[in-house]
Amino acid sequence: MCGIVGYSGPKEPLPILIAGLSRLEYRGYDSAGIAVSDGSEITIEKKEGKLDVLKEHLADRKINGNVGIGHTRWATHGVPNDVNAHPHSDNSQDFAIIHNGIIENYAEMKESLLSENYSFKSDTDTEVVAVELSKQWNGNLLETVINVAKDLEGTYALVVTTTKQENTIVAGRMMSPLVLGVGEGEVFLASDSAAILEHTNKMIFLENGDFVEIHDGSYRLFDTELKEVEREIQIIDWEVSEAEKSGHEHFMYKEILEQAEVIERTINGRLEEDSVEIPISKEQAQKYDKIWIVACGTAYHAGLFGKDLFEKVLGVPVSVELASEFRYREPIVGKNDLGIVISQSGETMDTIAATELLKENGSHVLALVNVVGSSLARMADSVFYLHVGPEIGVASTKAYLGMLVGQLLLAKHWDSKKKLDVSFEDIKGLPVLIEETLKCEQEINEIAESIYKQNDVYFIGRGLDYALAAEGALKLKEISYLHAEALAAGELKHGTLALIEEGTPIIVTASQYHLLDKTTSNVQEVKARGADVIAIGNSSSEKLENISDRYVTLPDSNEILSTIISIIPLQFIAYHVANKRGESIDQPRNLAKSVTVE
Ligand code: AGP
Ligand code: GLU
Repeated sequence: MCGIVGYSGPKEPLPILIAGLSRLEYRGYDSAGIAVSDGSEITIEKKEGKLDVLKEHLADRKINGNVGIGHTRWATHGVPNDVNAHPHSDNSQDFAIIHNGIIENYAEMKESLLSENYSFKSDTDTEVVAVELSKQWNGNLLETVINVAKDLEGTYALVVTTTKQENTIVAGRMMSPLVLGVGEGEVFLASDSAAILEHTNKMIFLENGDFVEIHDGSYRLFDTELKEVEREIQIIDWEVSEAEKSGHEHFMYKEILEQAEVIERTINGRLEEDSVEIPISKEQAQKYDKIWIVACGTAYHAGLFGKDLFEKVLGVPVSVELASEFRYREPIVGKNDLGIVISQSGETMDTIAATELLKENGSHVLALVNVVGSSLARMADSVFYLHVGPEIGVASTKAYLGMLVGQLLLAKHWDSKKKLDVSFEDIKGLPVLIEETLKCEQEINEIAESIYKQNDVYFIGRGLDYALAAEGALKLKEISYLHAEALAAGELKHGTLALIEEGTPIIVTASQYHLLDKTTSNVQEVKARGADVIAIGNSSSEKLENISDRYVTLPDSNEILSTIISIIPLQFIAYHVANKRGESIDQPRNLAKSVTVE
């Protein structure tokens, strides 16, 4: 679930491990540790808490070695403490191992090892792997790791080093991401390419069941039958600076501000009628019987936006599904259906499982993902990359915008009957429109001042504005820990209106011009109950403006584009409220950037 870094080469591993782990801090974790081996001895140091605690503990100590592995843990088995932190070792300290994921059959394995008099220090599932390695050791690290891995049920990215075979690291994966960075005479390992991008942009994304043997800065890849396999090296064109804060206090803030620039990249090369960057042709798109959009969290909210567009242009029913629910029911998926899976990371376990379900039922799967070479990108039949650059803040912002724009581009290309009221020329103007919209920040900051001490905030909207409301509420919840809820404006009178009382903050987006009168009536309903209404619309919604307590005027534009830009003030609201409440914006409590476990 969390972070992995590994190094083999002529340099000292420790600084590379610490720098790599700090690049992975954004993922959310509760402890950190390293192991460095000089061939005869492995030094393991690990500490509960943030990486700074480990750094302080190591102080100026020099731990020299030829290979090193480092980990940030997001506890699944056993509380976060020093002992449960990774790396783990076997009873005689011959092996050091780090692991992301969950070993589902660890309890049975542990019981059997205990009956054979092996002992355990931690409560983790991972430690059984370390102990099994020493039990099954056959003189070859690669073979032993693969043999042990065959007994494991669950998910893992495993990285192992040992004093029994000098200068060697063996790593392998099953469902948890693992990337190999190929340098000049040196090899890196990471759970996320951002950790090692400063050293190399040549990456190999390991596939499920791949194992790598790394020795003295070179590598060989194998499958579980010990057959050597070839994997393509991919060049990652992200700049290192993109994964840095560039002087801003938080990644989330930087990522909100850079949206104009990154959306330019999403649309780049995709604005021609016959763009090769569009993975499914207009002719093909017309042939599907049904579309399933499957995703989690913010990506799911983006899918709600896509539903309306795809139904309009293709005239086929579109069902938007939460991946965590979809995978456990029996949806009637046909061979002639299209699955659209949406994900920033491309590593979300529930979305991966849902993709497998779609594929098993014979439907074509198109993945809208941001991370190049990620698991979903490799599983899908077709891929549409968002190209918004690395997103570090746990709260997704620019990737969400990329998902909206990506779906708009697909819909526009598939729109053979010209049903969408937006031209390629209009879409071309989106980055400028976003730039203009970002100017609302100061006004939103003042609004945030008036709501940050509240207990409940409601977001209301109709049509696509309801999809935005859902995302606005999620943003506020996850980083400010305030109770926020999205309510379909037309549904208020069916129950939720009971929640509204004197001073209740209501945030309404009114980007759907054709629903403006309806939305205005709903605002009237909440006003009549004393709500404090903050409305976000354009210059032509005078009626709404007059009845609202505060009105944020966004640039006038085409209706679909106005929906897209309306998320920006909602992102700012979440950011500024959380900031005023003093919360940890980039790493909110209990959350991780990429949810690679169930
Ligand atoms: C977004 O702010 C959330 N942190 C979360 O809902 C996220 O969108 C979800 O976990 C899906 O992630 P993915 O896009 O990487 O699949
Ligand atoms: N399941 C392991 C543990 O609890 C690994 C967690 C992780 O992925 O960080 O220690």
